[in-house]
Amino acid sequence: MSDVDDDRLVSGENENSEEASIEKSLRPATLAQYIGQDRVKHELSVYIQATKQREESLDHVLLYGPPGLGKTTLAMVIANEMAVHIRTTSGPAIEKPGDLVALLNELQPGDILFIDEIHRLPKIVEEMLYSAMEDFFVDIVVGQGPTAHPIHFPLPPFTLIGATTRAGLLSAPLRDRFGIVAHMNYYTVDDLTEIVKRSADIFNTQITEQGSHEIASRSRGTPRIANRLLKRVRDFMEVSDKTAIDEQIVTKSLQFLRVDEEGLDEIDNKILKTMINYYHGGPVGLGTIAANIGEEADTIAEMYEPYLMQIGYLNRTPRGRVVTEKGYAHLGLSQERTN
Ligand code: ADE
Repeated sequence: MSDVDDDRLVSGENENSEEASIEKSLRPATLAQYIGQDRVKHELSVYIQATKQREESLDHVLLYGPPGLGKTTLAMVIANEMAVHIRTTSGPAIEKPGDLVALLNELQPGDILFIDEIHRLPKIVEEMLYSAMEDFFVDIVVGQGPTAHPIHFPLPPFTLIGATTRAGLLSAPLRDRFGIVAHMNYYTVDDLTEIVKRSADIFNTQITEQGSHEIASRSRGTPRIANRLLKRVRDFMEVSDKTAIDEQIVTKSLQFLRVDEEGLDEIDNKILKTMINYYHGGPVGLGTIAANIGEEADTIAEMYEPYLMQIGYLNRTPRGRVVTEKGYAHLGLSQERTN
């Protein structure tokens, strides 16, 4: 991740611990408090209720979708609804099989192990998960050379919740072991408006309906961004002569922060402009775009492109990325003039 992303006001990533702790205080605790993702919530509520009635552990759950949509929050809500403990970790944090065994060893029957960025698990760890998930055991090899021998290590029934931004990067054997696969979508402006109002309430900050709506519509469908923009706009409001966040203060603050009406920031616009100015709007390869604007290709693919595609500014084609007519129009250009 580059420096730019760490500071990026409209990125979905969350690597800053102060922000992580504020986000925690904003987290809904129950499915009823969780706003949006209605399909996923409804499905989960059925499985949770049925599993509780049978007094079993919940089937393994794979949550996938762009960053910042509340996958970790949802995992915690599931744990709360199931009334079980949850241990959270991430793919890159589990470096070797022993790390996984240590985590699994602490689980009690029914507990949840949450692995964020599960597509980044080392292969050797991933392979160990297969038997853990399917039959609740792991075989570990102890000793070296001629004294090496396997130990069969039974596990309590547990639920693995994996989260990933890239379901396509998961191997088929791992993907197939999740009984419940939930695709999280970008939030609607109405849902984000409700989330902004709820967060403002938790912050004890007054906000008008239009103010909440304006923040929501510039948050790229992402609650984490909505909450981040809310905090920044609140700062601007508090040093102004106003006592509530209204549409005007949102517009002024976000203009200052260079977040445009669609919620796009300088990097989004740079991606579009580079493609138009240097490559006639494409098709152009991801690596070429990345090199031109000084970003990692993965960062562009995971954090920028999905939303640009969602709002119809960018298309992925077999020959590369292309800017759409709508993307041109956003920059006040037309396709004909530049081609
Ligand atoms: N805060 C962040 N995401 C949320 C959600 N989906 N519902 C309620 N509050 C949230």
